[in-house]
Amino acid sequence: MSTTPEYRPLGQTEMRITPIAMGCWPITGITSIDVNETDSLATLTAAFESGINFFDTAFCYGYDGESERMIARALGSHRDQIVIATKGGIHWEQGRQMRDGRPDTLRSQCEESLRRLQTDRIDLLYLHAPDPQVPITESAAALRDLLTAGKARAIGLSNATPQQLQEFAEVCPLAAYQPHYNMLQREIETSHLPWCRERNISVIVYWPLMKGLLAGHLPRNHEFAERDGRRKYPMFRGEEWHKNQDFLEQLRPIAANAGKSVAELVLNWTIHQPGITSALCGAKRPDQIRDNAGGMGWTMTPEQVSRIEQALLARGPAVSRGAV
Ligand SMILES: NC(=O)c1ccc[n+]([C@@H]2O[C@H](COP(=O)([O-])OP(=O)(O)OC[C@H]3O[C@@H](n4cnc5c(N)ncnc54)[C@H](OP(=O)(O)O)[C@@H]3O)[C@@H](O)[C@H]2O)c1
Repeated sequence: MSTTPEYRPLGQTEMRITPIAMGCWPITGITSIDVNETDSLATLTAAFESGINFFDTAFCYGYDGESERMIARALGSHRDQIVIATKGGIHWEQGRQMRDGRPDTLRSQCEESLRRLQTDRIDLLYLHAPDPQVPITESAAALRDLLTAGKARAIGLSNATPQQLQEFAEVCPLAAYQPHYNMLQREIETSHLPWCRERNISVIVYWPLMKGLLAGHLPRNHEFAERDGRRKYPMFRGEEWHKNQDFLEQLRPIAANAGKSVAELVLNWTIHQPGITSALCGAKRPDQIRDNAGGMGWTMTPEQVSRIEQALLARGPAVSRGAV
């Protein structure tokens, strides 16, 4: 189902992005199971056809840049209608993700991303995560130079402390911050959001569905396959898992009453939280991204919002931990 497009400014730039974006990590199949190239390309196309104009990838999405290459293949003919965000500063070495925020590395990864994406500019280029071995001001200066050179149209930062955000922004104009955030993991509301809102910096959140948990499709007795990356997160284990399933039982009738899926309800709530600009929704099949796109283009009633708040109070906050 296509939805009414809805756009929000990306930081202080003239670019406009949809509040639901496609996260392009699952299409590489590194931690998601049953992924194939045909479905992945079709999912990218379905995202665009559903009104999504914002695509989030990274140098390390895929062992050899598969995610960036697939974006070029599926969406190259729509290049001027989409906003592409990618990230540098993390790469793969013998199956392990390594951080490297040195200026030379960021410059060469940017060139490689441009080649893979078959484009002459990256719309939003993030430092994927600060490198503890490199002063963040040095990484920021390298990205500022890429901005000045026109290789990137805007710069972002991900997975940083408030102090790191401040130091980065003193060196390089910052358009966006990318943390993890969802109904159950909300600590940025006090730690990061006020600072970003004061400076008109977009907050683009990852895991709004907490790796599919908050789409409400995984049954309580679901058995995660050996290769499924979700097994390592506390949210999918033991007491937390059962608390989350109890919470989903509260959400289902609210979604049904709104005539929406649980994913649509959760995403709509997320993108209407003050200071949240866009939610990055990973998907590996077209039906998933179509469902997620249905999270935008409508507004909940005050009664629906209040029922969600009651369910959240009953659940309480979950153990929170980001990806890196
Ligand atoms: N900056 C960072 O460090 C960072 C870290 C993590 C992610 N990200 C970005 O954020 C994006 C989102 O994170 P993510 O992809 O890891 O997780 P996610 O969006 O929370 O979850 C994606 C998974 O949830 C399931 N799903 C999604 N929509 C669904 C629906 N409507 N119905 C049922 N299941 C659904 C699918 O898995 P199954 O079909 O297997 O259940 C899908 O692969 C990433 O793609 C990436 O762009 C950034």
